[in-house]
Amino acid sequence: MKSMIFLVLMAAGSVAVAQQRKTPIMGWSSWNTYRVNINDTLIRKQADALVRSGLKEVGYTYINIDDGFFGYRDAQGAMQAHPQRFPGGMKVVADYIHSLGLKAGIYSDAGAVTCGSIWDNDRNGIGAGLYGHEEQDAWQYFREWGYDFIKIDYCGAGQELDLDEQPRYTAIRKAIDKVEREDVEINICRWAFPGTWAKELAASWRISGDISDSWASVKHIVEKNLPLSAYCRDGHFNDMDMLEIGRSLTESEERVHFGLWCMMSSPLLVGCDMTTIPERSLALLKNRELIALNQDTLGLQAYPVQVLDGTYVLVKDIERRRTPVRAVALYNPTDTVRRISVPLAELELAGKARLRDLFAQEDLKAVEDSIVATVAPHDVVIYRVEAERRLEPTRYEAEWAYLPLFNDLGKRKKEIFYAVEGKASGGRVVRYAGGCRENAIVWNGVWSDKGGKYEMTVSYLPTENRGLEVVVNGASVQVPLSADSVVTLPVVLHPGNNTVEMTCRTQWAPDIDRFTLKRTGDE
Ligand code: GLA
Repeated sequence: MKSMIFLVLMAAGSVAVAQQRKTPIMGWSSWNTYRVNINDTLIRKQADALVRSGLKEVGYTYINIDDGFFGYRDAQGAMQAHPQRFPGGMKVVADYIHSLGLKAGIYSDAGAVTCGSIWDNDRNGIGAGLYGHEEQDAWQYFREWGYDFIKIDYCGAGQELDLDEQPRYTAIRKAIDKVEREDVEINICRWAFPGTWAKELAASWRISGDISDSWASVKHIVEKNLPLSAYCRDGHFNDMDMLEIGRSLTESEERVHFGLWCMMSSPLLVGCDMTTIPERSLALLKNRELIALNQDTLGLQAYPVQVLDGTYVLVKDIERRRTPVRAVALYNPTDTVRRISVPLAELELAGKARLRDLFAQEDLKAVEDSIVATVAPHDVVIYRVEAERRLEPTRYEAEWAYLPLFNDLGKRKKEIFYAVEGKASGGRVVRYAGGCRENAIVWNGVWSDKGGKYEMTVSYLPTENRGLEVVVNGASVQVPLSADSVVTLPVVLHPGNNTVEMTCRTQWAPDIDRFTLKRTGDE
């Protein structure tokens, strides 16, 4: 993981305060190509290849050893490496990785058994998980062996022990904290967005089941991540899983895979054999302008502003917030060629817009009014757009909002979630908000240039026996619902960022589609 250091110079006395913000980790992981069939020589060769291929130079700095290194626990319970695969133990491998100027990652399970013991018949994975050995393993992995990253899987804790995710990962985090290595990075691998608590414990969390070397899998993971942009913040990232680039995807599918992992600020872990990676795939992985989107210091995930006819337009701020510079992706997951057109106003941009194609790394002719591109099936174009003006936003979709009580674990019925809904403006509504004050839909960045009075129009699906409370910067109003699925209310916004919440203390709120804002005057 690369860290950016921001120096804030305070005039009086010129005191420099360094503040660290993390970006998604970049590197290589053994799982996609080798599964549990890994060994010392193989890992060293891949580490060498990462350096030789120039990937290290553009930011890929982690070599992550996934499942398959486990041997047995000795009489004291200490984990030993697989005697045939890693005859010299795991420390020498980490030392070698470090000697190349790289960081080393390792793997375990929150329960007693690993996923490999269940799915890959790796008998050594039985009893190899962290369960009952939290502090012992943490000390060994991070202090004795010197690893810098750990991915913590859930097969043993889930399928076998049926533990609750939040307390289980919290206990593990506490054990790792005792090792006193603040640089150790944790990835929660629970194959679904685990809940907003995860940000207290981990730098990233998987949001889907395992990726496979197929177009259907890439498309599915993008779809799953579309409504999760609000959870990518403050140096915490939605993990879309390891890359399948350099294997069997077509050229355009690889563009989608890499381009959208960059737009959505996912960790970038190469998953192919780097000693034989095709030139074309290597060049893609080394595209510095796309990497810059992934490693952008704002650390934001692009969100869908236009969903039309099976195509998507995604956008995010880069470099600085709320300027006329933004990254935009026009994504066509369908099986036919599409002409995708998006008005600049939908991107909150106006005036002449200069476009730079980030795959070709070339400037295009400036446009006005809208951005239009013909996009091949299973393909994407990604532009850095620099317009003349940034407009005040007028629309806030429910699928852009933060839901404090959201998780995707599917353990309880009727929990708040982003429901696919054809009639909704962005293709989704938020269902099952309400029931208590905290179970809200929260838009944290409702922006007003100058502050003032606005007319807010809330759109929702028609339903009976629902109530709606709209809370603007902490001040709550009860909103009467009407039969025609829209309700309008006056609100006052401060200049800059405002917070809007929708909830209901006594019953469910209706399924919320979005709200729009129209300025009506000064405060
Ligand atoms: C799970 C994870 C994978 C991989 C395997 C190892 O399936 O999701 O990414 O780590 O376990 O067994």
